[in-house]
Amino acid sequence: METFAPLSPAMLEDPYSVYRKLQSDDPVHWHEQLQAWIVTRHADCMRVLEDPATFVNDYRVVGDHVPEDILGLQTLDAPEHGQVRDVLLRAIRQVDLPGWVAQCRANAGELLEKLGIANFDFVTEFNDPLTTASMCLFFGVKDLGDKPTYWAAVRALVLGMDSGLEPSRAQPRTDARIHVSQMLEPWIRQPSSPGALRLLELPADEALRRYVFNSVRMVFFAGIMSPGSTLSCVMRALVERGLLDQDQPLTIDNKVYNELVRHSGAVQVDARACAHDTTIGSQRIRAGDQVLIVPAAANRDPAVFSTPEDLVLDRSPNPHIGFGRGAHSCVGAQLAMALHVAILQELTARYRIRLVGEPVPRPTGTLRGFDQILLAAHPRKP
Ligand code: HEM
Repeated sequence: METFAPLSPAMLEDPYSVYRKLQSDDPVHWHEQLQAWIVTRHADCMRVLEDPATFVNDYRVVGDHVPEDILGLQTLDAPEHGQVRDVLLRAIRQVDLPGWVAQCRANAGELLEKLGIANFDFVTEFNDPLTTASMCLFFGVKDLGDKPTYWAAVRALVLGMDSGLEPSRAQPRTDARIHVSQMLEPWIRQPSSPGALRLLELPADEALRRYVFNSVRMVFFAGIMSPGSTLSCVMRALVERGLLDQDQPLTIDNKVYNELVRHSGAVQVDARACAHDTTIGSQRIRAGDQVLIVPAAANRDPAVFSTPEDLVLDRSPNPHIGFGRGAHSCVGAQLAMALHVAILQELTARYRIRLVGEPVPRPTGTLRGFDQILLAAHPRKP
């Protein structure tokens, strides 16, 4: 039986023991069903991420059909990728980041007050609405249309990332993409709020302009799915250790956050196609092969991290790849870090928080997450 079965109940519960086994026994593992190499060692993942000419994001290079509407940041390589990324980074940098974080932090405080001290589901009652509101604010989106349709689309997008393992998820994902594109189109073309993301200079070239618009949609949904999933994973790591239920608030800064992402980050897999024959470790990789690197495994590689299974809040140095590395590294890492540090600080400053039920893993392997994390929050005495 295949060891790497991310949607199996055992791996949903604990993917890390499988990663450990692959890392020691078969670090560049051929997966028959996925028709892909699974790469789990830190050095090998870095090799893939830092050689974008060999390990490409644009699968057209290896003869695959890529629909026009998904050509953008995550599916292009140099030189177009760099041109599109520049436009987006310039747009992201002109957003008022401290103002955005302060507003999101205030939203978090209000949400908690509404939830009161009763038990609540961190995922659906706090994290999901807060994460979506954060991106709406960032993009100046004021209306997501019918709410249940929106939430069903987000779920289809995140579950659809595992369509290689579960082909029935492919069509709902495509339908969801079309739905959300239509819903976002007017907001992307004409942002309504001052201070929200605004595309400054659009490229003159028609194809590049299209890639930029496609990428804005990608940024919006990457900005919901990755941070939302990550916040659930790191919250679970914190509360299962009782770290938010201590006499004093927990100190949360960028170093602590990076360790949380290293230890319990949501992104399990990043995909590339191999453009020409090469090797990873001692394994020969052929042109056209698909390569799936597993940052969540690399981030616990004992060759790089001492006591990798332990959460060491002051770990330094911490060369984790939870936000990727190289040409396609995360464009939202600073935003996510600033946002999550502020939210976690708000939570721990005002409440003692403890886990009151067994967390329910979401049935996803590419982006780990939870469907439910039941918590109780008790206000700290002033
Ligand atoms: C804790 C939160 C986040 C995590 C863990 C995360 C993780 C990652 C990782 C691992 C990659 C690299 C993927 C690869 O190499 O294939 C990536 C890329 C990306 N991320 Fe994030 N991300 C987060 C937040 C965000 C946010 C807030 C945004 C947008 C506002 C965002 C937008 C993107 C985009 C557009 C890319 C593709 C960049 C490219 O291909 O050039 N991410 N992210």
